[in-house]
Amino acid sequence: MAKEGAEKTEETEHMIEKDAGKEPETVLSSGNAKEMRAVVLSGFGGLNKLRVTKKAMPEPQEGEVKVRVKACGLNFLDLMVRQGNIDNPPKTPLVPGFECSGIVEALGENTKEFEIGDRVMAFVNYGAWAEVVCTPAEFVYKIPDDMTFTEAAAFSMNFVAAYMMLFEVANLREGMSVLVHSAGGGVGQAVAQLCSTIPNVTVFGTASSFKHEAIKDSVTHLFDRSVDYVQEVRKISADGVDIVLDCLCGENTGKGLGLLKPLGTYILYGSSNMVTGETKSFFSFAKSWWQVEKVNPIKLYEENKVIAGFSLLNLLFKQGRSGLIKTVVDKLISLYNEKKIKPLVDSLWALEEVKEAMQRIHDRGNIGKLILDVEKSPTPLMANDSTETSEAGEEEEDHEGDNDNKERMPFIQ
Ligand SMILES: NC(=O)c1ccc[n+]([C@@H]2O[C@H](COP(=O)([O-])OP(=O)(O)OC[C@H]3O[C@@H](n4cnc5c(N)ncnc54)[C@H](OP(=O)(O)O)[C@@H]3O)[C@@H](O)[C@H]2O)c1
Repeated sequence: MAKEGAEKTEETEHMIEKDAGKEPETVLSSGNAKEMRAVVLSGFGGLNKLRVTKKAMPEPQEGEVKVRVKACGLNFLDLMVRQGNIDNPPKTPLVPGFECSGIVEALGENTKEFEIGDRVMAFVNYGAWAEVVCTPAEFVYKIPDDMTFTEAAAFSMNFVAAYMMLFEVANLREGMSVLVHSAGGGVGQAVAQLCSTIPNVTVFGTASSFKHEAIKDSVTHLFDRSVDYVQEVRKISADGVDIVLDCLCGENTGKGLGLLKPLGTYILYGSSNMVTGETKSFFSFAKSWWQVEKVNPIKLYEENKVIAGFSLLNLLFKQGRSGLIKTVVDKLISLYNEKKIKPLVDSLWALEEVKEAMQRIHDRGNIGKLILDVEKSPTPLMANDSTETSEAGEEEEDHEGDNDNKERMPFIQ
């Protein structure tokens, strides 16, 4: 991450370590050409911790690329970061966001492979939700001419994670079957599309029922998220599935492992179930950990089963596997060029609408990916006469500002 003002220690390079993502607190006055707009998370908690503010514009350090951002990906993980619902959270205030797309505006010393004006997508170790981002060149990828900035911002996290799990970890091959939860979400849809690139792969998916119509062509067998999917899968495939992708850590380990065929692979890659209300709930956190199944390694070998974990951001920012990820991005771009995959975008939001966008993902409303469009103006607020309480409102804090009783309609693609 580029240095802005105060010197940062080497620790800041790693998301996992405490200082990662820390931004200087200085907020500049408006009208300065060296300023940019950015979303700032002032502390962990509810939506009221998010603000759009002016910040000093970063300049690229050695080996970095400065990107004029067009669009940013909003992931479920960002919601967990906002709540402080992650392992070893960084210090606040920080600019959230792990991925963006845009145009190369400047290069740090010794930065090769890119030219000013290149259209790119990039991973960022926090700080993506801003008008300008600086990130090491190893995390930046050129995008095809016909890939829009919106598509590019919806591409890297979801497709790289899905590809790595299916092909690098689980070795997906012709004729296999895959179970994926949250099948209508960003990663879920990337998994479904990548499965369709291999002949005769059966995809079982769980998702809220209202999404089924929209995603039925990409998922072979869809179940409502609240049904007993083990029973439903067994009705169709008595001996289970080859690959289980579980982003509901703790709720499903035993069920998922039980569903595996011999030589099958169970991959844990998320903990969406830890999110209940608007703020982190220590009760659900403790409950989830209490419920995590104990895995008996002896049973694993007796039953010929593989259990794995996957974290793309750790692989990139902590474990130094950017070279491997680059080869995966190249393969994914080829699949995009061959029109075999295409990010499914749910909706576009202005930076100023980040709270509403987060509320939508929290309310399970998204089908595909949410995008923060840096050049989009906020849509006018409308009076909200709804009396319904959202799921996210269960543990709601006092909201600051005047807009509590108003809502915006998302721009749906
Ligand atoms: N390990 C990695 O490298 C990696 C990378 C990317 C993402 N992930 C993980 O993959 C999962 C999906 O990420 P995503 O960004 O693509 O998000 P997403 O699937 O678009 O997330 C939203 C969907 O998750 C489902 N969901 C499940 N539990 C929920 C809860 N407690 N609150 C709200 N929604 C819940 C809802 O769909 P339904 O109601 O239809 O079930 C919701 O629409 C997350 O757990 C994320 O942390 C991991």
